[in-house]
Amino acid sequence: MSRKVTIEVLKFNPRSAVSKPHFVKYELEETPGMTLFIALTKIREELDPDLSFDFVCRAGICGSCGMVVNGKPTLACRTLTANYPTGHLKLMPMPAFELIKDLSVNTGKWMDKMSKRVESWIHTNEEVDISKMEERVDPDVADETFELDRCIECGICVASCGTVLMRPEFVGPVGLNRVARFEVDPHDNRTAEDFYELVGDDSGIFGCMSLMACEDHCPKHLPLQNKIAYLRRKLVSLR
Ligand code: SF4
Ligand code: FES
Repeated sequence: MSRKVTIEVLKFNPRSAVSKPHFVKYELEETPGMTLFIALTKIREELDPDLSFDFVCRAGICGSCGMVVNGKPTLACRTLTANYPTGHLKLMPMPAFELIKDLSVNTGKWMDKMSKRVESWIHTNEEVDISKMEERVDPDVADETFELDRCIECGICVASCGTVLMRPEFVGPVGLNRVARFEVDPHDNRTAEDFYELVGDDSGIFGCMSLMACEDHCPKHLPLQNKIAYLRRKLVSLR
C-alpha cells in the first residue's frame, strides 16, 4: 500500500539579497522504488520549479548528489524513501562546502584545492617510453591501488568529519585516502620523508581525531580509518 511522504528541504540562495534560510515541506505520494532523485525531480516538476539540487549519473558513480538526510550525509540517488519508516525526510546541504543554492554545493572547488594541497599526481623522474611494454606491477599492489582509486569525490566523508569543520585547512579523509593511494603506487617515487613533508602536520595526517564518521558514511566503503592509521604509524616514526 502506498503512503504519503514528507520531504522537508532547507532552501537558501546565498546570492540573493532577500533570501533567508528556511525549511519548506513538500508532500507526495510514494511510488515503488522511489529514490530521493525521483522524489526531488517530481517536486521540481510539479511543486517547486525553483528548487536546486544536483544529480548526474543517478547510479552512485559521479558523486554529485551528496546531501544530509535526517542528519546523515549520504548519496541521494541511492537513498530509498521506503527506508524511512516515519515517511519524513529532512534534507540539508552538506556542510564544509560552498553553498550554491538549496541542496547544491560546490564540492569541485574543495576537491581541486585538496588535490593541489596533497599533490595528487604521480611524482617520478623516469622517462616513460610508450613504445615499450608497460612494467609489471605486483597484482596485490595493483589491487590495493585500484581499491583506493574507487573514491568518487562525493565529499560525504568531508561532510561527516568533525576535524574539517574545526580546521578548514584539513585535507580530510578523501585527501588522506589520496595520499595513501600514491604511497602504495610503485610508479610514484616519493619517499616516506616526502609524504611527511607534505602531510606530516595538523592539516594532514596528525589532524584526524579518529571519530570514524568518514568510514561509517563513505558510500564506497573505502578503508579510510585503516589507511589513516597506517599512514600515521608510518610517518610518526619519522618525527
Ligand atoms: S572517500 Fe568515500 S566518502 Fe570520501 S569522497 Fe571518496 S567515495 Fe566519497
Ligand atoms: S547522481 Fe551520481 S552519485 Fe548520485
